[in-house]
Amino acid sequence: PVLILDFGSQYTHLITRRIRQLSILTVCITGTSPLHAIAALNPCVIILSGGPNSVHANDAPSFPDGFLEYAEENGVPVLGICYGMQLLVQKLGGKVADGEKHEYGKMVITVVEEESEFFGPEASGEIQTVWMSHGDEALRLPEGFKVVARSLQGSVAAIENPSKKLYGLQFHPEVTHSPKGMESLRHFLIDVCGVPADWNMEDVLEEQIKHVRSMVGPDEHVICGLSGGVDSTVAAVLVHKAIGDRLHCLFVDNGLLRYQERERVMSSFRNELHLPVTCIDASENFLGKLKGVKDPERKRKIIGEEFIHVFEGFAPKVGEEVGRNPLFLVQGTLYPDVIESCPPPGSGRNHSHTIKSHHNVGGLPERMNLKLIEPLKLLFKDEVRRLGKFLNVPESFLKRHPFPGPGLAVRVLGDVTEGNALNILREVDEIFIQAIKDAGLYDSIWQAFAVFLPVRTVGVQGDQRTHANAVVLRAITSEDGMTADWYYFDHKFLIDVVSKICNQVRGVNRVCQDITSKPPATVEWE
Ligand code: XMP
Repeated sequence: PVLILDFGSQYTHLITRRIRQLSILTVCITGTSPLHAIAALNPCVIILSGGPNSVHANDAPSFPDGFLEYAEENGVPVLGICYGMQLLVQKLGGKVADGEKHEYGKMVITVVEEESEFFGPEASGEIQTVWMSHGDEALRLPEGFKVVARSLQGSVAAIENPSKKLYGLQFHPEVTHSPKGMESLRHFLIDVCGVPADWNMEDVLEEQIKHVRSMVGPDEHVICGLSGGVDSTVAAVLVHKAIGDRLHCLFVDNGLLRYQERERVMSSFRNELHLPVTCIDASENFLGKLKGVKDPERKRKIIGEEFIHVFEGFAPKVGEEVGRNPLFLVQGTLYPDVIESCPPPGSGRNHSHTIKSHHNVGGLPERMNLKLIEPLKLLFKDEVRRLGKFLNVPESFLKRHPFPGPGLAVRVLGDVTEGNALNILREVDEIFIQAIKDAGLYDSIWQAFAVFLPVRTVGVQGDQRTHANAVVLRAITSEDGMTADWYYFDHKFLIDVVSKICNQVRGVNRVCQDITSKPPATVEWE
């Protein structure tokens, strides 16, 4: 693959995604990874990402000792972007200093070298708009390097040492504000470095099926928890294709599902996906444990633990049925969950900083001595959707909005068992989502849902004073759930939804809309 060593740039994932869009497999690991981890991936090109640091900072992250020698010996081209370029310059004996001209935002550069490998022969003399964001700059280049592009202010914008296959860019080719960036990257990777552009979902599927078969012996059995979401569904369909009915899926009704979700999802699993699924109704256990619990983190913990209990009961049942206990567990872990990034020094941030304890039936594999099968762990969400399409998973699964593991428990604030909160929320949510679908907006919204507030407000309905609950509607746009903007509905849509909710759902007399982005808010309310 093309390997990206991440030094903490906000654009690192974007480079990964952009290069994958060129049908080139791209993998990203933390920039300070040891040399053996880098070599184990057998990279064909290595990109050093940008980062928020100065190479002069005390604890400035760097590639491991011996890295440049490794690249040279193996003929692996290295492209440094921004911080990555400064790191190259500094490590090779050049000089990087805090430049007089800090360049942030859109800048104009000129390709000054006729034979630039990065830009290609046609770009010679061209003036290009690019996106820059740097304070430090390369003041003296290491031996063997030449400047191939300069900014309008005269600072170094791109450097090359073709005989050593070392390249550096002071700008970010991966952002859309560098309109020619992708063309140059494509030229560089495919034409100059000879990277084959042949990565596709068909190969991913074949490779993963092979991998699963090689992991799971011919008589072994595998279990998988299905949530009804894209990831676990695609993972299960893939594993089912690999080992057939030695896969045993479990769908847990935890009492925190959406309106008619259990019936709808189970029918799709059986009739459309032909997956072997057992449905366990554990709602009484979950709700019993949640009674009176108000603290959001405790709610999440209890739900996680209960899931584990249900699973622990399921595995021996499968064992009894098939004559041997399952040894493997399928999880729909995605790439963003496994990538670590380099935190800026002094940020106090570390890899495992939790804002909310996201629950993914964590703890289960160790507790039950199960080995994990994670067939999607190299893919981004949109790639999983493409893979799912290839596997004939119905659109209704592939396009579903994400739904959190703890379900409606994080959308009924406080005690979820109080009054009729869960049922009220289900009805409100169903009206909201149906209205979004009817208006043809479902696919333009990343996630939409309702929240139940344990707050009663005064209203007037049919000449009667009411004292009923308030609910909140939330709809967001996002790339990956890490940041989000609220979705702008038109007036008429909102008026109709609010009126439907107040007219049809008993117990609600007030509807609010959440128009907070993430950050400062999170997507869910708990
Ligand atoms: P937050 O609320 O953290 O949500 O901004 C970001 C995205 O993650 C989903 N989410 C979860 N997903 N288990 C999950 O599988 C969880 O515990 C969980 N909590 C939040 C949330 O719905 C949003 O898409």
